[in-house]
Amino acid sequence: MKQYFKVNEWKIIEEGFDPSYNKVTESVFSLGNGRMGQRANFEEAYSGETLQGNYVAGVYYPDKTRVGWWKNGYPEYFAKVLNAANWIGIDVWIGDEQLDLAKWEVIDFKRELNMKEGYLHRNTLVKSPQGKMVRIESTRFCSIVDDEMGAIAYTVTCTNYSGGIRLIPYIDGDIINADSNYGEKFWGEVSKEISNDTGVIQLRTKKTGFEVATAMKIRLSQGGKPVDFISEQIQKEKYIGAEITVNAVSGQPVTLKKYVVNLSSQNHKTDELSTKALAEVERISEKDFALLLNEQRLAWAEKWKHNDIIIEGDAVAQQGIRFNIFQLNQTYTGEDDRLNIGPKGFTGEKYGGSTYWDTEAYCVPFYLATADQKVARNLLLYRYKQLGKAIDNAKLLGFKDGAALYPMVTMDGTECHNEWEITFEEIHRNGAIAFAIFNYVRYTGDEAYLTDYGLEVLIAISRFWAQRITWSAERQQYVMLGVTGPNEYENNVNNNWYTSTIAVWCLKYTIEAIGKVKQANQHKYNDLITKISFREEYECEKFADIIGKMYLGYDAQLGIFLQQDGFLDKEQILVKDLPKSELPLVKKWSWDRILRSVYIKQADVLQGLYFFEDDYNLETIRRNYDFYEPRTVHESSLSPCVHAILAAKLGDIDRAYQFYLRTSRLDIDDYNDDTDDGCHITSMAGTWMAVVEGFGGMRVRDGKLSFNPLLPAEWKALSFKVGFRGISLNVRISKDGAAITNYSDKSITVKVYNEEYAIDANSEKQIKIK
Ligand code: BGC
Repeated sequence: MKQYFKVNEWKIIEEGFDPSYNKVTESVFSLGNGRMGQRANFEEAYSGETLQGNYVAGVYYPDKTRVGWWKNGYPEYFAKVLNAANWIGIDVWIGDEQLDLAKWEVIDFKRELNMKEGYLHRNTLVKSPQGKMVRIESTRFCSIVDDEMGAIAYTVTCTNYSGGIRLIPYIDGDIINADSNYGEKFWGEVSKEISNDTGVIQLRTKKTGFEVATAMKIRLSQGGKPVDFISEQIQKEKYIGAEITVNAVSGQPVTLKKYVVNLSSQNHKTDELSTKALAEVERISEKDFALLLNEQRLAWAEKWKHNDIIIEGDAVAQQGIRFNIFQLNQTYTGEDDRLNIGPKGFTGEKYGGSTYWDTEAYCVPFYLATADQKVARNLLLYRYKQLGKAIDNAKLLGFKDGAALYPMVTMDGTECHNEWEITFEEIHRNGAIAFAIFNYVRYTGDEAYLTDYGLEVLIAISRFWAQRITWSAERQQYVMLGVTGPNEYENNVNNNWYTSTIAVWCLKYTIEAIGKVKQANQHKYNDLITKISFREEYECEKFADIIGKMYLGYDAQLGIFLQQDGFLDKEQILVKDLPKSELPLVKKWSWDRILRSVYIKQADVLQGLYFFEDDYNLETIRRNYDFYEPRTVHESSLSPCVHAILAAKLGDIDRAYQFYLRTSRLDIDDYNDDTDDGCHITSMAGTWMAVVEGFGGMRVRDGKLSFNPLLPAEWKALSFKVGFRGISLNVRISKDGAAITNYSDKSITVKVYNEEYAIDANSEKQIKIK
């Protein structure tokens, strides 16, 4: 863990430039608006360590699978949201020297991500090898008002030089994904045009045929006054630029404003893309940068009004949660139901921008409570629409009769992952998809979802489990062989407790859902079972048999569930007894050593106890927590948040607080030494859960919200907002108690520490802690 950035409640601040940390800062300072996003690369040339990244949501490429040893059943490709045209580029020449922070002396440097208002600012003074002193100031944003546009104001002030400077704003589509499997470039050029101050370039992805038009419009001012200019136009393959020469006067700022629009064929007719992009960029440039930035500020203020979390008395913790909420809002807005949430959002290439179980297990709760109900519903429908492909995927692996195995990684429903121990064996993801249906219905009360969509998915998943288990004659029980649980530091294990438990739970919930749907609408139920050839009596009998006879490992002496067969044979050295220099294990140990060891990457048994907490008493949860947590290295970003929630539930507020800091500041402090290739966006929803479900103790039981608040000693108060069944609440927890404000026209009854309180419409209730 590093403490590189300055603590501030609304900003992330970098003071002084450390080139060795540049890729981390590029990730942390990423900007996005749900439709497009980019890493915080410099506008000007930079020859040091950098990872270029511009992304347009939903625009991907199926990169042919590359593995050492091909195995039957591997998917043909790994789909990746592509690194798209670089639209921020501005080359800068001062006399005959090109500005490059890797080669010039950096005298002072400050970069700030303003989360309150949604922009990135940089102010730096640099000295060229020949001694020219230049101040660079840049502000840029990806608009959340108009999610197809971005803008930059870039100011160059020479402080000891008068003479010619050249500014070359450009759009460069000749870029490559750093993770391209075969060193291939994924974009081809369709068309381009460039005039004095305006240009557009249209590119097409190979194979998938998506087209994106990127247009720019340039304005110039000198000494604060707009000036005309004549540029020299540059055209190269997949590149347009406008070279502007200015006679700079020492001390006088030269400002270039670059307005950009990115239009994708996903949302516009292909043959109109360039024309529309030009018209759009014209329109926005007329508003001017200051006005656009002001609109951005107001739009962010509105967003924060609905989902800010306020932690009083602890700026480190406050900065952490705001950073997480900010990045989530930048990644996924829920407005386009074709999109989902990639584990790294728009902040890097890792995980290809594809959909993982992270969405269902971690992100759905955040959107349920902070966005319109339709957002979480769309996330569920995304999987419903891909059910056919999940059935095909299972068929490919030898399953039949409508059994579905959802992919571990996907863009359009097809499996993209190609490590056998995950692709074929990390099947617990099916369970998380079923759990999200349960979670959605529990939270919203929208039981019609089960009838219309949910049950079809549940039956297909249950059919998979019913075929995936094996009858063990020796045990006279069903077993689940050859799986990888959430803890990916174990592969090909037998009877992973979490996987078997979630399988049993799915079967139970499917039977329960069948009962509910039959009662709600027998007619629709009949239609469904005909459509999917469901033999209710026969199949449900099989489900019930498995529920009754599934082997779930338990050690009576320790009173814990066994993560998998043979777990206790391992050498039981705790993480605290490992030399710090050996962490993170994934970077320091060989893979076979990790597999043989006791160390757990992320919550596994504990993930199950988190999901199904009501099925276990507190003592059971505590025993398992006390056993497994000390063996957990939390090298998945998804781990600390679940531990924070469980620690809070167990009343261990100090550990809950430490886990909260770790999850909320995972990227700001680069805990796992892996933020250089992107921020961990999906786990940021887990951070939200750590606050609301952990310290707020929020649950939904019997259709009612309940709270069990617990405040870390470091905090004076905690406030968060939740939307629940059409009611919006603000919950403020302090040492004295809770204050719940109901902003809606309906009253609501909530439970706080197990006592019921009615909160009238538009009123506040003070609840004293007893
Ligand atoms: C975790 C998985 C997760 C993936 C994407 C991996 O490191 O082990 O559980 O789905 O990252 O976040």
